[in-house]
Amino acid sequence: MYKLDQTQTPLFDALMEYVNRKTIPFHVPGHKKGEGMDNKFKDFVGTNVLSIDVTVFKLVDSLHHPTGAIKKAEELAADAYGSDRAFFSVQGTTGAIQAMILSVVSQGDKIIIPRNVHKSVTAGCILSGAIPVYMQPEIDDTIGVALGVTPETVEATLKKNPDAKAVLIINPTYYGVAEDIKKIAKIVHSYDIPLIVDEAHGPHLGFNDRLPTPSISVGADMSAQSTHKIIGSLTQSSLLHVKGNRVDADKVQQTMNLLQTTSPSYILMASLDVARMQIATKGKELLDKAIDLAQYARSEINKISGLYCFGEEVLSKKGAYALDPTKMTICCRDLGITGYELDQTLADKYHIQVELSDLYNVLAVGSFGDSKEKMDALINALREISSEHYNASIKPSPVLEIPEIPEQVLSPREAFNSSKVPVALENSIGQVSGEILLAYPPGIPVLCPGERITSEIVNYVEEMKNAGLYVQGTDDPDVNYIKVLRNTDALSLNITA
Ligand SMILES: Cc1ncc(COP(=O)(O)O)c(C=O)c1O
Repeated sequence: MYKLDQTQTPLFDALMEYVNRKTIPFHVPGHKKGEGMDNKFKDFVGTNVLSIDVTVFKLVDSLHHPTGAIKKAEELAADAYGSDRAFFSVQGTTGAIQAMILSVVSQGDKIIIPRNVHKSVTAGCILSGAIPVYMQPEIDDTIGVALGVTPETVEATLKKNPDAKAVLIINPTYYGVAEDIKKIAKIVHSYDIPLIVDEAHGPHLGFNDRLPTPSISVGADMSAQSTHKIIGSLTQSSLLHVKGNRVDADKVQQTMNLLQTTSPSYILMASLDVARMQIATKGKELLDKAIDLAQYARSEINKISGLYCFGEEVLSKKGAYALDPTKMTICCRDLGITGYELDQTLADKYHIQVELSDLYNVLAVGSFGDSKEKMDALINALREISSEHYNASIKPSPVLEIPEIPEQVLSPREAFNSSKVPVALENSIGQVSGEILLAYPPGIPVLCPGERITSEIVNYVEEMKNAGLYVQGTDDPDVNYIKVLRNTDALSLNITA
C-alpha cells in the first residue's frame, strides 16, 4: 500500500527537537517563543504553540528549497495521496490553484474551466494572462445548486477549442457532488494536455471507499486540496499534488516559490504533517464515523417537515457521478424561510454555525470532528425551527434558466487592468463589463469582467430581482449600476466556447 512509514511526522519532530533543545532564539519572529508577546493573546493560546512559531533554519528546513524535514514531510504526503510530488501550501488552496494555473498556461493560452469557478481560478487567469473558455455546469433545479460539468461538456468544449492548453475541473463541488474524473481525464489526455483539479473539498477522498475517488488516482495531472477544510490541519494549510509527465514538477516548485510568503508558518506546516499522518494511518475508521454520523443526520433531517437533505438519489441527475455523504445540504425551500434566515436562526438562537447558505439551502459540513451529541443538537434545532415555520405561506421562487455565456471581448487580465466607469444597468447593453454578475441560486456567473453585456442578461437580472432572488457581484449592492470598461470597441478575442 504505502511505500513509506506513514506514522512518521518529520517536520513536527524537527520542531519538537528545537523545543527540547531549549534553543535560545536570536531569530525572527520577534515574540521569541511568546516572551515578547502581550499576555492578552498569550494567556489565551498558551506558550506551546508560540514555541514552534519559528523561521527558516537548517533543523526545520525551508519551504522554498526543501532538503530536510519539509522535503521528507512532502514525500510522505505524496506517498499517502498516491501522487509523484506533493507541495505544502500555506496560502490555502487559493495559492495552490494559482500555482497550478501558472504552471500550465501563460499569456494568451486558452484554459477550459467551469463557469462557476472559485475566485482563485479567475485570479490565476489574471496573473497568467490566460484566456478562460467556459463550460456550463449542470444545475439541480430542485435545490438550485450547480452540480458538476459532464464529460460530454468537456468533450464538446475541447472539440471547439483543440488549441486549449489545459482543462480545470472542480471535484467535488462545495455540496459534495463529484464527476466522472476518469472519463474526463481520458478525454483531456486525448488532446495531450493536462487536467488540473480544484479538489478544495476533497482532501479526505482517498482514505475511505464510501467516498468519491480522488482525482489524482484516476488520471488528473495536478490537484489542489484544502487539507484544512475537511481533515485535521489548520486553516490556510493545503496540499498541491502532481502526477505523471504532463506537468513539470520543478516548474510547480518555482511557481509556488513565486507565490508563497518567504516566512511560512511552521505551525501551519507542522499541522499539515500531522494531519497527513492521521489521515494515512487512521483515516478509514475516522471517516467511517464521520460518514455514519452524517448519514444518520441526513435520514433524521429528511423526516422533518419542510426540509430536504439530498443523498444518493442525486446521482440520477446529469453532472452527479458520485457523492460525498459528509456534506449535508439542507434545503428549506418548502419551509417558507430562506437559507439565509435558517443560517441566522441556527447561529443566533442555537449557536450552531453552518458553512454557507443561499436562498434555498444551508450547507452543514461533516468531518471526524463531529459527535452524535452535536448532530442531535443540529437535528433538534431544525425540528424546532420547522415546527415554528412549516405551513408558512411563502411560495418557493422558481430557479430561472440562466442566459447564454456572452461574447468574451477581453481576457480577465486585460479587463482587470482597464479603467472602468459605472453606468445604469439598463444603459449598459453592448458595453464590456468590468464586474462580475452572479445570481443566487444557482451561484453561476451570468457575466464576467471582459464580457459583452447583452439585453438578455439585463432582462434576466431584472427578472431575478422581481422574483426576490439575489444577484450580486457589482460594487452597487442593488445592482442598479454596473462598471463597464472604457474604449474597448476595437478589441475582440474571437473565442469559440
Ligand atoms: C471550490 C473551491 N476552490 C478553492 C477554494 C479556496 O480554498 P482555500 O480557502 O483553501 O484557499 C475554495 C474555498 O472555499 C472553494 O470552495
